[in-house]
Amino acid sequence: MACIEHGEARKLPHAAGSFDAVITDPPYDSMVEYRDSADWFHVWLKRSQAEADPLFALTTNPEGGSEYDRELIVKAAWRKMPGDSRNPTDYDVGMADALAEARRCLKPDGIVTILFGHDSPEVWDRMVKILGNASLVLTSVWPVHTERGSQMGKGNMEATLTLTCRPAPVERPIGQFRQVEEKIRSALQRKVLEWQTEGMSTSDIRVAAYAPALAFAGRYQSVHRLSGEAVETSAWLDLARRIATEQATQHVEEEFDNRTRMILDWLSEGYGRSPQTTGERRRKAFAHNLNDNSLGDLLPATGAKCHLPFASELNLTARPDCMIDSVLAVAAAARDQERTLDCLEAAGVDTEEHRLFALCRILSKHLPETDPDVAIWRWLDRERRSLVPMLNTRRRQSEAASRQTALLSS
Ligand SMILES: C[S@@+](CC[C@H](N)C(=O)[O-])C[C@H]1O[C@@H](n2cnc3c(N)ncnc32)[C@H](O)[C@@H]1O
Repeated sequence: MACIEHGEARKLPHAAGSFDAVITDPPYDSMVEYRDSADWFHVWLKRSQAEADPLFALTTNPEGGSEYDRELIVKAAWRKMPGDSRNPTDYDVGMADALAEARRCLKPDGIVTILFGHDSPEVWDRMVKILGNASLVLTSVWPVHTERGSQMGKGNMEATLTLTCRPAPVERPIGQFRQVEEKIRSALQRKVLEWQTEGMSTSDIRVAAYAPALAFAGRYQSVHRLSGEAVETSAWLDLARRIATEQATQHVEEEFDNRTRMILDWLSEGYGRSPQTTGERRRKAFAHNLNDNSLGDLLPATGAKCHLPFASELNLTARPDCMIDSVLAVAAAARDQERTLDCLEAAGVDTEEHRLFALCRILSKHLPETDPDVAIWRWLDRERRSLVPMLNTRRRQSEAASRQTALLSS
C-alpha cells in the first residue's frame, strides 16, 4: 500500500534500517529557487485553499510569503543576503543531514538513488563531499533527458543524472592514482561513445562523465599519488572533463568528413538557422580545410550574410563521402519511402549503426524540436530498424536482376 507523507527531509519519522530503497529528487543547489518561484502563486493560493484546509493560510513569514528557513537550496543572491540560510555552507550541511537520515532508515544492503543535475564542477565537487559526509558511495550513474537546455537557471544542461549510491563499506582499500586513472579512462571511453550514439550533446556528456569517474574513485578509502599526496575530488572532475572532451571530439573527427564537421562546428556555435556574416563562413571553411567558394550550396549568401536553409530549399545529393549532404538530401525526401531509400543507398548506408543515423541524432540536438528537418531526422532514426532491412532487400534484388541480365546477354 502506498502512503504519502509530507515533511522535513532531515527528520524522517521512520525506524532505522527499515527501507529497501530511498528514491529522492532533492533541490539542485542553485539551479531552481522553488520557494521564491512558488510565492508568486502562494499569495493567491493561501486564500483560495484555506477553505480546503486552514493550514494553507498559515505562515510565519512576516511578509506573508511561504517560509523559507528550512528550504535547502542555494539562493543565487546568497552573498547579498546576510542571515539567509540558503547559502552553500548551510545547503551542504542540510543535504548531508538529509542523506544521512535516508542512510539511517536504509537496510544495510539498501540503495539510494538521487536525481541531480548541475553544470558547474564546483557544485559536483561539493555534492561528492555531501555524499561522503552522509556515508554513501556513488556506484553508478544514468543520464536521463529531462530538461530542455538554454532555459533560465538551467545553463546548457539538458540531462539530469540519476546517481545510485550504497552505504559506504566500512573497509575500503587505499588506491594508487595511476591505476585508478587508467580504470576511469577505459570506463569513460566506452561510456562516451555510448552516450554519443544515443545523441547526447557534448556539454551533457562532460557533466555525465563526472559520475563514473567519481564512482570509481569512491571504491577507495582514499587515492594517493606517488608523492604520497591524497588526490582531491576536483582532480577526478578535471580528469573526467578532459577525457570526455577528448573522446567526444575524436569520435566526431574520425567519423565525419570536413564539410560535415564544419556544419557541426557552425551549429555548436549556436547559429542554428540564423544569418551570420560570410566572414564567419570563410573562417570556419579555413579551419576545416575547405574552400569557402564550395560552400554556397550549403550555406548560401544573401549580400554579406549567409545561413543554413531548410533541406527542402537546398538541392543536395546523398553521397558516401559527405554525410551532411546525405542527411539533408534525406530530409528533402520528406518521408517518401522510395526517395528516402534512394538517398540511404547513395550514402552507402548498410547497417542500422551507420554514421548517417548518428549524424541525424547529433543535428537534432543542435536545432529546435519544431524544426521540420529535425522531425524527419527523428523519424528516420526511429524507422532505421525497418528501413535498413528494406534497403538491403532492395540491394539484393537489384544485384540478382543484374546477374540475370548479364547471364541472358552472355
Ligand atoms: C527537484 S525538486 C523535486 C520535484 C519533484 N520531484 C516533483 O516532480 O515535483 C526538490 C523539492 O525539494 C523541496 N525541498 C526543499 N527543501 C526541503 C526540505 N528541507 N525538506 C523537504 N523538501 C525540501 C523543494 O521545495 C522542491 O519541491
